[in-house]
Amino acid sequence: MRYNIALLKGDGIGPEIVDSAVRVLEKIGQKYGHEFVFTPYLIGGAAIDACGEPLPKETVAGCLASDSVLLGAVGGPKWDTLPGNLRPEKALLGIRAAMELFTNLRPAKLYPALKDECPLRADIVENGFDIMIVRELTGGIYFGERGMREGKWGEEAYDTECYSRMEIERIAKVAFETAMKRGKHVTSIDKANVLESSRLWRKIMHETAERYPDVEYRDMLVDNAAMQLVRNPAQFDVIVTSNMFGDILSDEASQITGSIGMLPSASLGETSRGLYEPIHGSAPDIAGQHKANPIATILSAGMMLLHAFGLSKEHDAIVNAVDAVLNAGYRTADLSHGAPYLTTEEITDKILEQI
Ligand code: IPM
Ligand code: MN
Repeated sequence: MRYNIALLKGDGIGPEIVDSAVRVLEKIGQKYGHEFVFTPYLIGGAAIDACGEPLPKETVAGCLASDSVLLGAVGGPKWDTLPGNLRPEKALLGIRAAMELFTNLRPAKLYPALKDECPLRADIVENGFDIMIVRELTGGIYFGERGMREGKWGEEAYDTECYSRMEIERIAKVAFETAMKRGKHVTSIDKANVLESSRLWRKIMHETAERYPDVEYRDMLVDNAAMQLVRNPAQFDVIVTSNMFGDILSDEASQITGSIGMLPSASLGETSRGLYEPIHGSAPDIAGQHKANPIATILSAGMMLLHAFGLSKEHDAIVNAVDAVLNAGYRTADLSHGAPYLTTEEITDKILEQI
């Protein structure tokens, strides 16, 4: 089969980690007889520098015409002082909206080989954990009305959290369907003791739970959830939550896996296309130093094979190769504690050897 993949390398370490994932996909293509055709498009700061806007029209059109999209990361100090609607991050929100990617799957699991990297006490992570965060991605405060105005105390700025029944119903369905294929347990995280939008969220989660009698369901307030994630992460299977809470909690979940450099993500809509990206940012401080951990992006490419193309054998080959490399003790800089480490290219070579 032939698959057209749009590459959005972006900024900072983005190009390095996307190059690693492309090498892995090419190896998978050779071994399993698929042809992956890669077409790069500009996004983020790179696009601002080249054409004055973070998300050029050609990029959106290219992504919509592709079979799937692989993204590195966007942003950096160079563009930090631009107004909000011209920032590199705006491109990420723009492409998620343009492709109608309302679901963001962020798996966070503890690799046995990385147990000692987990900052939690050994007895807490004895049995590991395997969490799937289902983050709503095209609604909430990220996309609500915002602006500046004159208020009681003069200049003020506001952002609004708003969720419609339709938006909550569709993400709820994804969460319960996901749970059916995993541990059959859903925790919905909200702030229903304060926010009206959370109360509607909770009501619709309950309605959906009724339709999935095989799934155990509970609600949890977000402040408690932040605590429970470090107190006992093994209690979670599927977490479903809003755009902003999901952003914050997925960084917390990534850190207890040992490194944010390990966590992939899949952003999905109603079509199979999707956009695949590591959950970490562009790490401008280490860009170009061959220090970046490409594993999150390589695993994101793995998620693409599974979700966009239905290639489960090929997906498993990537996951198993990463496992083998970690089990053999190979580490990137983020996991090396100052000891000698493999460069981005070297760890990619090791993963290629295992495929
Ligand atoms: C993420 C990032 C983005 C987000 C930023 C860069 C806009 O933090 O993908 O988690 O907040 O969604
Ligand atoms: Mn984030």
